Amino acid sequence: MSHIRNRFSKPLDESVVKYTSSLPFDWRLYRQDITGSIAHAKMLAKQDIISGEEARTLEKGLDTIAREIEQGKFQFKPELEDIHMAIEARLLELVGEVAGKLHTARSRNDQVALDLRLFIKEAISETLTRLRELQQALVSLAEGNKDVVMPGYSHLQPAQPVLLAHHLLAYFEMFHRDFERFSDTLKRTDVMPLGSGALAGVAYNIDREFLAHELGFSQISHNSMDAVSDRDFVIEYQSTASICMMHLSRLAEEVILWSSAEFDFIELDDAYATGSSLMPQKKNPDVAELARGKTGRIYGRLIALLTTMKALPLSYNRDLQEDKEGLFDTVDTLLSSLEVFSGMVKSLKINKANMERAANRDYILATDLADYLVAKGETFRVAHGITARLISYAAEKGKSLSQLSLSEYQRFSPLFGDDVYRITIASSIASRNIIGGTAPEQVARALIRAKEIVGDLEVKKQ
Ligand code: ARG
Repeated sequence: MSHIRNRFSKPLDESVVKYTSSLPFDWRLYRQDITGSIAHAKMLAKQDIISGEEARTLEKGLDTIAREIEQGKFQFKPELEDIHMAIEARLLELVGEVAGKLHTARSRNDQVALDLRLFIKEAISETLTRLRELQQALVSLAEGNKDVVMPGYSHLQPAQPVLLAHHLLAYFEMFHRDFERFSDTLKRTDVMPLGSGALAGVAYNIDREFLAHELGFSQISHNSMDAVSDRDFVIEYQSTASICMMHLSRLAEEVILWSSAEFDFIELDDAYATGSSLMPQKKNPDVAELARGKTGRIYGRLIALLTTMKALPLSYNRDLQEDKEGLFDTVDTLLSSLEVFSGMVKSLKINKANMERAANRDYILATDLADYLVAKGETFRVAHGITARLISYAAEKGKSLSQLSLSEYQRFSPLFGDDVYRITIASSIASRNIIGGTAPEQVARALIRAKEIVGDLEVKKQ
């Protein structure tokens, strides 16, 4: 805007205008900016800094601008540095000189901090809703396949049999912690910075508590220099988003593996699978692959802002303008990934027989055999050694455990008796009857708990 260049002898070079402008991306903050300005105008009138009449004029003008932007009628002039300037300039056209009063007791530095906080508060609330939807999808898939057995893996080797529901609820827990992390981020974002001015606070008798109340903040900032120059709440959203995407990438990887011909544990719904342009037989898990891939981009955005902020002296520096594109991209990417995953998970078809078949091979009951010997008085370490030798013997003979005769068993330990044949996949799973274990009784409990948690959402939504 021309007035802020009064002390300069010539206009900005074209290339500088382009280089320094944030309007091409920060236009997205227009709603928050206008909401903040309306509250500010009201406050100025309440404090007799401007008249009530003036405040109403400003508010009307700002409402008009909001409508113009929403209807695509607003002209974004590239020579204006950012959304704050663009709105102020239009306000001047609409309501005349009184527009100049809006910026009393305010700086773009506290204004942009406010806009960002409002933006992230909304983003968090949307993120929480999407997380709950994904948790609901996991619960409904688990619930619909309560008795499906599968191999549990470690090192991606079949390790011990588990219920599929148990495996799915592991993700429920991860996303639950993400939910808590975002809720916690909200507390530190929910701080109203207006009144900080450029950096030192403002020299007017403004009412910050009133502003906080008008704008729905539960706290006000306590240090003006901090308030205009920190972006830790942005970093926190991005780091929480990174953790959440990391979780999503793990689920994505399992969807990719499980839908491969080698595993064939699940089938993707046609609405969530893509074809190959060359190989007609293929049904590809592109959604999961993209989520896995986009995780890198979310981490990148986090590292970028951490690096931008590193060693930045107090207080506001223009470097901070670099906070927005990464944040917007993080929010967009995370929300769309969560949304598409909920739908994909909900519609997954489970190949029960294949999962069970996979659980039935590869000496997956070896731990149970060792536990059996422990129950008969052996120490676990010795039992482990006996079982290991027994398994390598069986493998050499090409026999499964149930195909070994009792005398073969007894060659390895006299403690083996007829009851060794009672060890089955079902008995193995049922024996892990401990809080957090995979026994059906425990998984049923975990499902109840999970439903109580996601149930919260429906209560709140009504
Ligand atoms: N476009 C700036 C940003 O996004 C707004 C604040 C500008 N303040 C300033 N003193 N130039 O950070």
